[in-house]
Amino acid sequence: MTERISEKALGNSELKISTIGLGCMGLSEFYGQPASLEDGCNLIRHALERGVNFFDTADMYGDGHNEKMLAAALKGKREQAVIATKFGIVRQNGEYARTICGTPEYVRKACHDSLKRLETDYIDLYYIHRVDSSTPIEDTIGEMSRLVDEGKIRALGISEASAETIRRAHAVHPISALQSEYSMLTRDPEDEILALTRELGITFVPYSPICRGLLSSSRIDSNDSADFRRNLPRFQGEAYDKNKSIATALSEIAQAKGCSLAQLSLAWVLAQGDNIVPIPGTTKIKNLESNIEAAGINLTGDELAEIDIILSGATVEGARYTEEGMKGVNL
Ligand code: ATR
Repeated sequence: MTERISEKALGNSELKISTIGLGCMGLSEFYGQPASLEDGCNLIRHALERGVNFFDTADMYGDGHNEKMLAAALKGKREQAVIATKFGIVRQNGEYARTICGTPEYVRKACHDSLKRLETDYIDLYYIHRVDSSTPIEDTIGEMSRLVDEGKIRALGISEASAETIRRAHAVHPISALQSEYSMLTRDPEDEILALTRELGITFVPYSPICRGLLSSSRIDSNDSADFRRNLPRFQGEAYDKNKSIATALSEIAQAKGCSLAQLSLAWVLAQGDNIVPIPGTTKIKNLESNIEAAGINLTGDELAEIDIILSGATVEGARYTEEGMKGVNL
């Protein structure tokens, strides 16, 4: 019998979450064609059976498709899951172009709509997906706090926010999770955010811990129009090849450790702090199993030092998002 994954407390809350979660986004959008409802549900149920209870979605992933898939997968098992969803990125007709909204009226409506799609009475962790520069953060959090009082939300999260915004938000209502991109190839949170989350008792939730698949042996299909990574500067032309060569250098350490590069990437993220719970995304049970196994891989000081040597001698080419994708980031 395979061992179940262990749990951690979610910051400033009563909730317990598995030491890695499951990023559900790719089941609906962005990384190629969406999974069928049957395949998506099978993957999510498999995760739950293996003790992965922390499911990450958002209202905008596939325009509600992802939340509905999660609801279908969790039918009869809602209580076993910790559902994290997000609001605040507003898109029209499936286009990538977005506006960011955090007004109290919008928060309430978005929450109501997510509850409906998720077929549940409460959201365990409700995130501000991106910070709205035209609404004071206190107003957005104030409304979320009222939703907590009403039993519709259990804990509050925020994504890609600056240190100042996190402090201001936390002063209104305790923040449980900060979700930002973090991996061996995206280390921006190390400047001040990681220390701040530790100081405030917030769980740090790295998304794209495998750098959207860049830190694995596979290559993206640049002809697939459903794969938005082909639009990202990091995944284009020479930049992609250069970034892949960093991945190749890291693969050698993985090989010596007897694990895959994706597993090394997750083990590295986990080694950066006790309050870190990554949410790798996958559409495949085989990769899910491999990611669960990665939660049990401990890197030695020597291995971490070897990784540091490679990373400090390498420059990651290309921004992580297009200009449109950077809206509401680091505000
Ligand atoms: P995100 O958080 O944005 O989903 P990520 O977790 O860094 O990004 O990476 C997701 C990508 O890594 C997906 O393309 C996923 O592909 P599959 O759907 O084919 O699994 C890939 N991925 C996830 N786990 C993997 C693993 N163990 N080995 C190889 N690739 C993996």
